[in-house]
Amino acid sequence: MTATTTAPTYGNYIAGEWRPASSGETMENRNPSNRNELIGTFASSDANDVNAAIAAAQEAFETWRKTSPIARANILYKAAEILASRQNQIGQELTREEGKTLKEGIGETGRAIQILRYVAGEIQQPSGEHYPSMTPQTLLYTVREPLGPIAVVTPWNFPIAIPAWKIAPAIGFGNTVVFKPASLTPLCAVRFIEALHEAGLPAGVVNLVTGGAAKAGNSLVRDERITAISFTGSEQVGKQLKKIVADTGTKLQLEMGGKNPAIVLADADLDHAVTHLVTGAMWSTGQKCTATSRAIVDRRVADEVTAKLTERIRALTVGDPLQNDTQLGPVIDQDAVDRIIGDIGKGTSEGATLLAGGTRLEDNGRGDGYFVAPTLLGDVAPSSYLGQEELFGPVLGIITVDSYDEAIAVANQVRFGLSASIFTRDLGKALSFAREIQAGIVHVNSETPGAEPHVPFGGYKGSSSYSREQGKASREFFTQTKTVYIDPPPGN
Ligand code: UN1
Repeated sequence: MTATTTAPTYGNYIAGEWRPASSGETMENRNPSNRNELIGTFASSDANDVNAAIAAAQEAFETWRKTSPIARANILYKAAEILASRQNQIGQELTREEGKTLKEGIGETGRAIQILRYVAGEIQQPSGEHYPSMTPQTLLYTVREPLGPIAVVTPWNFPIAIPAWKIAPAIGFGNTVVFKPASLTPLCAVRFIEALHEAGLPAGVVNLVTGGAAKAGNSLVRDERITAISFTGSEQVGKQLKKIVADTGTKLQLEMGGKNPAIVLADADLDHAVTHLVTGAMWSTGQKCTATSRAIVDRRVADEVTAKLTERIRALTVGDPLQNDTQLGPVIDQDAVDRIIGDIGKGTSEGATLLAGGTRLEDNGRGDGYFVAPTLLGDVAPSSYLGQEELFGPVLGIITVDSYDEAIAVANQVRFGLSASIFTRDLGKALSFAREIQAGIVHVNSETPGAEPHVPFGGYKGSSSYSREQGKASREFFTQTKTVYIDPPPGN
């Protein structure tokens, strides 16, 4: 098949206008289910485009910071309604560019809408505090003020929800934004910005610059006009960002990897646990930083859990994510296929047993996409490569343990700490787990993924940077505190 050449062209959005990259360069966006399908061509930006976007954000900040939060909230509400009127279309586009199933694509668009509505309410909540003073006539209070132009750098795996949960509070609290989405999923970014534009967001408050990390992202995060960076993505890039801000002094928020455990105790409802292990590990083709990647199972039920998992994982339907009966779409690109298949091989060479999957799928019309069979591995050693490293694909490993104490020790024996689950009917064990597990998000009797928009989201240890996103936590990151002492003039 030859590539389609009639796909639309999309530009950057800078100072309220759509324009091509100043170099004229473009990049292609292709469907991971079928690489012959060109979704569109997008601006391939460089330092010049980033510079124009930051200048626009800096200029807009001077007026935007003085606007009422109520006026900002009205724009966010309106953007939510615009997205809601297009939810099915954008959900379908999300599925075509990212590869998650249509139900998930439409669902994630719904999440972005919900986030905008929530943030519109949150920014109208009380801000700051009033304090007593050592001098009784002094009016002593704090206010939260915006930071300035903020860089928002987002991953491809939640191409509309994560931009929404960073950009909505960033602008809602009075900052301006330069947004660099993952180069693999620029269309959802364009759709999100279109909604903000049509909702009446003033020029320069949000600026979109599409392109790769080396040319566009790099100059954005190093620019000293940027006051804060909110990043979700790989551990490797997160570490580079920490080094950069050590020089620039820029405020930094990181959301990186996970190696999320789900403990199954012997008293658990095993069918319920298995259902959640499968969905936690496999939905979105396992490409969530919150995905379950280690099933830590009590030896007394390990055979039964292993048999049930094997049967359920082998039965999953993998294919075109636009089809209603598909449960798993492709992984994002060829590099992901190679990495995941390679990592499974490392696992088996270290002694893990392959129970399901383990291969690329190229039959039944899947030859032009990046399909990996949902994979289950048994006998995973806690300290092995598979026991320690994030695979970011449809792969679940089983670790067998002899006691609850061993389960907790194994669960904590990784450098990540994003999310974790336990399946049990024992309230004491559930409470102990909630206290002892080193994770920012804890589930009892439900899967490790999931993030409601009104509660804090983020990880312990190497998963995060001790800051939280979403809910009331977003105010912490996207504002700074000013303490004000007001004394009456003498004689009053
Ligand atoms: C979820 O579990 O639904 O990039 C959200 C990620 C996370 C978001 C997970 N930051 O996968």
